[in-house]
Amino acid sequence: MPQKLKMASIFINDIKVTLPEKTTILQACDGIGIDVPRFCFHERLLVAGNCRMCLVEVEKMPKPVPSCTMTIADVKGKRIYTKTPLVKKAQESVLEFLLINHPLDCPICDQGGECDLQDQSVYFGSDSSRFYFKKRGVEDKNLGPIIKTVMTRCIHCTRCIRFATEVAGLKDLGTTGRGKKTEIGTYVSKIIKTNLSGNIVDLCPVGALTSKPYAFKARSWELKSTNSIDILDSLCSNIVVQKKGNDIVRILPRTNDQINEEWLTDKARYSFDSVSKNRLDIPLMKTNKFQEISWEEVFGQLHKNLVSNNSLSNPTIRLKLGSLVDLETITACENISRVLKQNVNIVSYKKSDNVNINLDHTLNYRATDINNKLAEADLLLLVNLDLKNEIPLFNARLSNSIRKSGVPVGVLGSNIDCSFNYEHIGFDLKDFITLLEGNNKFLNKILQAKSPLILFGENCSTWNLNSFYPYLSKINTNVNFSILNHNVAVAGLGEYGYNTNSKNGSNTNENFFIDIGCVSSEEEIKEKGGYWVHIGSHGHTNLKNYDLILPSTTYLEKESTYMNFTGSVQKSGPLNSSLPHIRNESDILNFFLMFLSKQLDSKDLINSSNMQLTSQTKILNNKNSMQDLHNIDFHTQIAHKMNFNKNSIDIDKYFTSNKFSKSSKIMNTIQMMNEKESYFSKN
Ligand code: SF4
Ligand code: FES
Repeated sequence: MPQKLKMASIFINDIKVTLPEKTTILQACDGIGIDVPRFCFHERLLVAGNCRMCLVEVEKMPKPVPSCTMTIADVKGKRIYTKTPLVKKAQESVLEFLLINHPLDCPICDQGGECDLQDQSVYFGSDSSRFYFKKRGVEDKNLGPIIKTVMTRCIHCTRCIRFATEVAGLKDLGTTGRGKKTEIGTYVSKIIKTNLSGNIVDLCPVGALTSKPYAFKARSWELKSTNSIDILDSLCSNIVVQKKGNDIVRILPRTNDQINEEWLTDKARYSFDSVSKNRLDIPLMKTNKFQEISWEEVFGQLHKNLVSNNSLSNPTIRLKLGSLVDLETITACENISRVLKQNVNIVSYKKSDNVNINLDHTLNYRATDINNKLAEADLLLLVNLDLKNEIPLFNARLSNSIRKSGVPVGVLGSNIDCSFNYEHIGFDLKDFITLLEGNNKFLNKILQAKSPLILFGENCSTWNLNSFYPYLSKINTNVNFSILNHNVAVAGLGEYGYNTNSKNGSNTNENFFIDIGCVSSEEEIKEKGGYWVHIGSHGHTNLKNYDLILPSTTYLEKESTYMNFTGSVQKSGPLNSSLPHIRNESDILNFFLMFLSKQLDSKDLINSSNMQLTSQTKILNNKNSMQDLHNIDFHTQIAHKMNFNKNSIDIDKYFTSNKFSKSSKIMNTIQMMNEKESYFSKN
């Protein structure tokens, strides 16, 4: 049962407020709309209290006190003042002190226009300074390909250090020296190796840490912002895409407490240059060599080749969906399948990985209510999961929760690099079965736990997990489990019922293939023959094997719907593209269907309303209840057939692990630098 919070009252500028005792004065001021300046305080990091910008006057206290460190319990019943002459003098003095060594280089600083020091100097600072000495010099640090440093600008707020330690799980960043000689750095010269380093740039309140890829690109007031979502991992972080003219110059996180809080991965933040690199920008048809054709000709070609390979009344089409497809595209495929009936075979990109998701239960493809399950868990078992590379921001939430609660954690699979302590139980399925059979001491912990949580990696979806669930439930009836998929399309494909095999059953007579957002291997294309169409946004060496190549928009250029790994459905924001001939994947498929329907003179001619996303009710429809799982028998023989795969994303390939980020110059540079650093640290 949640404990009742102890409340206390104080007066802020003569306004009475009653709040939980642990609330700080600064938070209480925020709550009633009183603005108290701050540099080091950040609501998602531990309190440091070292900038002294948040000083307030407290009744009967001889000196002003830092409001971010003092709780209401400390000043119960007292009167607090935030705008007295003493407070004003204190704020002016702190700013004067910080500006002793801060260079006055705002005109060439990338933080200009969004700098806390600049803003607070204007609002709270004095109009003159008493210091005319030489400013100190501090050597810049090389913190990697994302963070640009100008360390003379640092005001030692330590936000960067606290983020690195508390959220990213890095112990590399810290302070050296004392007083005037204090410096922020990595103790020994090395780059920061984390996929969350862009957040450190966001947190720096001055221009000491700025973004290398954004250096001297634009001023904040020149940018036009559009809200959207990221789809490069299955979390679907909320983002703001900022353009200068026609070019995307920056992507920033948008706060969503349930999803990405206010953080963003480097991949989500810096892959945007891929929008203008290696693009397919016009329909191409293969004759002797590839030639450009118009969209009118495209549908004529599709029809002609469909007729020459099939009878129109009996076409045998395979539609293959990639790992980043949106729900509209899956709906369009369903519509084609509905009109052309049993002769359309829809498969997911996972076919090539021989992954066969068991769709009997929604738990196998989406982790509903995972944040609450995590908050309640008193034991965690991670099975074949490397969250730091698969869903980095969920890993940050998980690590934070583990560090706060101190729950025991067991890991089955490869040893993982993480910021919490865990017990390594084994490497393979044999060890998992040994655990389930009671021959591992970690089982005692599971038995005693009140709310154990087992998290399976995406590769475990190949297993017949339904066989495990009831067995686990017998060990501990309160056990919760979830699969954490790292590709955005998996949850949506699961909802629509697509796995490696068509819902209509596999069809070996297929001779008309449309690959949507994925590329088939040269061997497969040669072996199967027939007519091959690729719908996608970026070039690939294997595209030379296709007969028709159709250029499509990326997720940053269209308004589309995606489901994240917890089942949350969100829309991406549309950004106008400068490429006139690209089209949404779903629109291409819908036009294709309309074209076919006319040719077929079909009574099933789809009208546009039928083509809208029809999945909302479907999406919210659970297939089984948890209770059903408890009735399924566990067969150890089935379990023995299942294999642990290698972790899904190779850490060394994290930044270029999908087709979008692979085309990004920034991502390739980061990847290269990380590999180079690993090479030097290994040799
Ligand atoms: S580099 Fe920026 S975030 Fe880090 S301590 Fe200095 S001012 Fe603060
Ligand atoms: S914000 Fe309170 S001391 Fe820095």
